[in-house]
Amino acid sequence: MKISIGSDHRGYEAKERIKALLQQLGGDVTDHGTSSRQACDYPDVALAVGRDVASGEAERGILFCGTGLGMSITANKVSGVRAALCHDELTAQLSRRHNNANILCLPADLVGDALMQSMVRTWLETEFEGGRHARRVGKITEYERTHTAPCCPEAERT
Ligand code: RB5
Repeated sequence: MKISIGSDHRGYEAKERIKALLQQLGGDVTDHGTSSRQACDYPDVALAVGRDVASGEAERGILFCGTGLGMSITANKVSGVRAALCHDELTAQLSRRHNNANILCLPADLVGDALMQSMVRTWLETEFEGGRHARRVGKITEYERTHTAPCCPEAERT
């Protein structure tokens, strides 16, 4: 699976740990930084990962910041992104089953390494349930199609 990842300075260490896990699981990982603990601005990274996912360049994205809030708020501005801020395994699982989330946002200051690893595994393995949830997600996509600009020419809004 092609996975695009990124963090700000607060999420840097968690990103590095999860990158190692993704590579161990055979993921094809694109890392949009940051590459140190030096302070940076989360929107730059969230938009880069969001564009990868919305354009189809990556199947999924994972973003890390202190709370996960800045990353989720920003990534959801990119048409086609369904970014879910999750704090435990259940929300990670439901964000896939019910919302077909294509970006997972993780709060590096609030979730420990062991839990984060199991959240990521669960999120990657869990399929979208479709059915009534497809109708609901379809309404989000329809709104994007009629009210927002595509993120880039190659974006297929599904
Ligand atoms: C950075 O200080 C912090 O604001 C950021 O990591 C994140 O928590 C924002 O939502």
